[in-house]
Amino acid sequence: MAEGYYYPEEIIEEVIGRNDIVDVVSDYVKIKRKGKDYFGLCPFHSEKTPSFSVVPAKQIFYCFGCGKGGNAATFIKNIENIDYIDSIKYLADRVAMVLPESNNPGELKKQQKMKRLLAINHETAKFYYQQLKTQESMEARQYFKMRGVTVETIKRFGLGYAQNQWNLLTMHLLSKGFKEREMVDAGVVLRSNKGAYYDRFRNRIIFPIIDIRNRVIAFGGRRLGEDGPKYLNSPETLIYNKRRHLYGMNIAKNTKNSFLILVEGYMDCISLQQAGIDYAVATLGTALTSMQAKLLKKNTSEVIIAYDSDTAGQKATIRGLDLLAKMSCNVKVLQLQEYKDPDEYIKNKGEKQFLKQVEDALPLVEYKALLLGKQFNVETNDGRIKFLNGVAKAIAQVSNAMEKELYIKRVSMKYDISENSLQIEIKKQSGEMTVEEAEKEKTLNVKLVKSNNMLEQDFLSMIAIICVENSLFTYIQQFESIGFLSSEKHKKLFQEISDRVNNEKRIDETMISSILEEEDAALFSGLAASLETSNDLRKALIEKINRYKMTITKKTLMN
Ligand code: UTP
Ligand code: MN
Repeated sequence: MAEGYYYPEEIIEEVIGRNDIVDVVSDYVKIKRKGKDYFGLCPFHSEKTPSFSVVPAKQIFYCFGCGKGGNAATFIKNIENIDYIDSIKYLADRVAMVLPESNNPGELKKQQKMKRLLAINHETAKFYYQQLKTQESMEARQYFKMRGVTVETIKRFGLGYAQNQWNLLTMHLLSKGFKEREMVDAGVVLRSNKGAYYDRFRNRIIFPIIDIRNRVIAFGGRRLGEDGPKYLNSPETLIYNKRRHLYGMNIAKNTKNSFLILVEGYMDCISLQQAGIDYAVATLGTALTSMQAKLLKKNTSEVIIAYDSDTAGQKATIRGLDLLAKMSCNVKVLQLQEYKDPDEYIKNKGEKQFLKQVEDALPLVEYKALLLGKQFNVETNDGRIKFLNGVAKAIAQVSNAMEKELYIKRVSMKYDISENSLQIEIKKQSGEMTVEEAEKEKTLNVKLVKSNNMLEQDFLSMIAIICVENSLFTYIQQFESIGFLSSEKHKKLFQEISDRVNNEKRIDETMISSILEEEDAALFSGLAASLETSNDLRKALIEKINRYKMTITKKTLMN
């Protein structure tokens, strides 16, 4: 075992031994005892009846559905998408066990580097916080006051201020013994073309981004003046990947509340927390990623989304909803009425009214119905049909059968439409056959619809894999030249990715989601979320490619 190189075998055994498999799994999966063993829904593939088991006597888990199994370390490795050695570190951490220094030179170097970057961030946060007390920070203090941010909140979130100067931070960090190169690697300092170093954040309010282990991993800076973008954030670094984190989770993870509230901005999160809502977290402007959804799911079973009320916010809301629902997380949407964001809402209407809004948050289907109702005129026949088709589609996505039935009843009553025709429409939407189609079973038509769905899924799955491992793009590069792209849509997406790859830009889930149509984006996020990144991705990709090609060939033959 190559891993043994990092830590002696007996250390690894001890780490695993101290982490009871039942406890470890329970951090992520709801399992129930049946006889000697435990059972639950497998977190590694989607299923409706539990085939995932935990065997305490052997300290292993095994899924009869997908065949995944192993010990506590394998479990962590798979569920956290980290490598084996990191899973050992994770488990050691979990039981407060101190591991000896690793003896692998590459690993050692990386660890030391990470420590340095964390130290720089820590010192930077302290510096910006201290700056708030200086004469020059009057405007910043006034700004906080104007926005109703209290001194306690400033302290609790470690908020700060970066003065309108070029290198105050650089000088400070130098005096603390850090090197300019390291500051650049930490993302707080930039290097000009001429080789001069200067602070990234100038004349900005500073929001340290703190991870669940309470480490400062990055910063967000809000402009005070008019220069530059409204928010400037740390770049991705060795210690910061924005897709993995949720702002405020370090606090929210300890809440006693049974659900979390998901907001878009720093200020929304802070504002709610200040009002005593210690279960608010923020995605910081990007669409919810599958890793963030997992992080939410890990900490709660219900999420209330309170994104901005503008159209971008609404779009992001739908995506977040679908993604979380796919992970069988209960999701609801909070209505902000005429207010722009939760911060504005709570400032104007107060905490009590906000909590009432929380109580009245709409379940997924109802929220979608509400949006569809705004989109179509249900007074006209045409509008009504379109509206009901949309609702049917939303209901089709509900996985719980009882919930589904309740919605069917409610909608059929409210819009005076027979349950039966709603049923048919829902079946059609879920890809099951319609009544007519059932009659003409095995007609070409059905096959075509099916193969189209499959092409869609396989293509998006390929992209999802490439998002994790960009270098695998080479495997599908040939597609274009041999004319193996099934539709204009795929060609377009392929072109965009290809362009980015050629320009040596990274491809990631957020970027792909943002260029996909809403429906595809939801499908894509679901596929990305169910991707088992610990598996051999190359192999998985090749399987998809082969199936994609085969489906196309079959389709061509049918035509
Ligand atoms: P908002 O503009 O809604 O931010 O963007 P906010 O937190 O409510 O800020 P205030 O109330 O105007 O001060 C939502 C989030 O999107 C990210 C930030 O994380 C912000 O909190 N964002 C926004 C950026 O990263 N860059 C931007 O230029 C704007
Ligand atoms: Mn705001």
